[in-house]
Amino acid sequence: MKNSPIIVSAPGKVHLLGEHSVVYGKPAILAAVGLRVTVTVIPSAAEGVARNDGLDKIIEPIIKKHFKIKKIPSYQLSISSQIPIGSGLGSSAAVSAAYIAALLIFLKIQWDLNLVNNLAYEAEKVFHGNPSGGDNSTVVFGGLVWFRKETPDLKIIQPLPFTIPSKLSKNFLLINTGKPKEITAEIVGIVSSKVKNQKSKFEKLFIDQEKLVRELLPALSQSNEKELIRIIRKGEKNLEAMGVCSNYVKGIIRKIENAGGAAKICGAGGKTKATGVLLCYHQDKNKLESIAKSFNLPFFSAALGVAGLKTGWQI
Ligand code: PMV
Repeated sequence: MKNSPIIVSAPGKVHLLGEHSVVYGKPAILAAVGLRVTVTVIPSAAEGVARNDGLDKIIEPIIKKHFKIKKIPSYQLSISSQIPIGSGLGSSAAVSAAYIAALLIFLKIQWDLNLVNNLAYEAEKVFHGNPSGGDNSTVVFGGLVWFRKETPDLKIIQPLPFTIPSKLSKNFLLINTGKPKEITAEIVGIVSSKVKNQKSKFEKLFIDQEKLVRELLPALSQSNEKELIRIIRKGEKNLEAMGVCSNYVKGIIRKIENAGGAAKICGAGGKTKATGVLLCYHQDKNKLESIAKSFNLPFFSAALGVAGLKTGWQI
């Protein structure tokens, strides 16, 4: 049909572990999270891109450059999102991937997930400066992803051959500490200067994060709750030693730990106060909910390991 809307959605992501060290070539495990952004592109006779949010200024040049296109015909764009922006859930990667796929369909360009992923990585560079590529890979391919950046041009993106067993998955809760004052690029930059000045400290931290990421695999696939809690706690401590978690959020996390659970930041983090969404685990989720309430923070459950990019032709 001539002017039928083109609809593409993508999920958010959480880092189960490995954020920051992943920028330095260490592995990370990420999960696509059950909150989605939906992008609709409607072919339009009117000039320009209606309701563009400025995003077209980032995405269109990437497509034009890659396919050597001079002009993209006019269209209307609408974006609706369940993913909190700038809070460690990969909102920029999700919206970029969905928008890129929608434009490729609009332009009748043959595409596949690898192509969308590569172009979404270019968008992530505009948003974040020096991204690992883990966020875009996870929102595009979905599920649980083992990600490792070997060189700037070579990335291992391995979907894990299992889902998180329900014994564990039902006990995760996401607590939103709010949007960090610092954007991801800033925090990544702060870590980068520390890596230069405190080389051996950071080498040790990154090596330990890799060990924990590797230990996380069997803990998840074999439903080993005790191990999962130990790994999240230790991984969070290492992130705190990197200086990416504010004192305010450390206070929340210590409360969760003292109550028998574990929690961690799940993206770049934050230094001042808010650090975005926390990935929290407790055998008794009510305990997590009452801690969130005691800090007056919103919380929600969301599925981990959901489908990646999806297209749909009807509203
Ligand atoms: O803040 P987010 O959700 O974009 O996650 C950033 C994760 C980092 O490891 C800190 C950076 C990266 O590009 O992997």
